[in-house]
Amino acid sequence: MGAGQVLLVLLATSAVMPSKDPLLNVCMDAKHHKTQPGPEGMLHAQCSPWKDNACCTANTSAEAHKDQSNLYNFNWNHCGVMPPKCKRHFIQDTCLYECSPNLGPWIDQVDSSWRRERILHVPLCKEDCEEWWEDCKDSVTCKENWHKGWNWATGTNRCPWGSMCRPFSHVFPQPKDLCEKIWSNSYRYTTERRGSGRCIQMWFDPAQGNPNVVVAKYYAWKKRSSPAWMESVTPATDAAVGALPWAVLVLLSLVLMVLPGGVGGCGSL
Ligand SMILES: *[C@@H]1O[C@H](CO)[C@@H](O)[C@H](O)[C@H]1NC(C)=O
Repeated sequence: MGAGQVLLVLLATSAVMPSKDPLLNVCMDAKHHKTQPGPEGMLHAQCSPWKDNACCTANTSAEAHKDQSNLYNFNWNHCGVMPPKCKRHFIQDTCLYECSPNLGPWIDQVDSSWRRERILHVPLCKEDCEEWWEDCKDSVTCKENWHKGWNWATGTNRCPWGSMCRPFSHVFPQPKDLCEKIWSNSYRYTTERRGSGRCIQMWFDPAQGNPNVVVAKYYAWKKRSSPAWMESVTPATDAAVGALPWAVLVLLSLVLMVLPGGVGGCGSL
């Protein structure tokens, strides 16, 4: 086989079977995550949808359901008891964060004492955000950003001096405020619907598989084919930018086939 043919085979292979994408099927480097995703048959209750492939252990999934879990010593009941219909959304949010192997496209490096990576701007499905807000709007809290600013003097988070306990609906006037501000932009509010393949679902029925697998693939592809610098110089449509690497591949293959004798011809002279 000439060098030209070898090149063609390599090109074809890389087009059909891309090498492992570092943005897909990964666990972030944080406090409780496994280093690699894998099956976890014993995941607890609300975390069980991830049991076929998870970044959390059974222990983490069980702790995620506790009021004063040893995961972060975080206290949901900082302004009186959080009603169960609201708390279940925070449990689901914890399950997604700890267990999902599909958040790669939104992993961000951080300089923090307790984790090296976080998630930033995960596009949450409209229903997930709106149901979360609806079920929590009468719950009470004293803070908008739950990542920082607490009084940790007792080992758990308490409302800082001077803050007032108010209904969620005052602290977070719209669903978007809740989903984006509570964890300092870990989530991005979207108008994409569940099942669209364009937003991450906190809640899903595992009988149909994990819907977030294709979502991560889509955004990983989008990130690769239109990196930020490219968007700023060419205000092209998604489709046009996405077609670029393919056009290059196809053209290169054509050139190699059309060249008299291929590249291999030169070597056999
Ligand atoms: C998880 O592991 C920790 C440390 O080994 C232990 O203290 C805790 O009880 C475990 N939690 C559950 C729910 O099994």
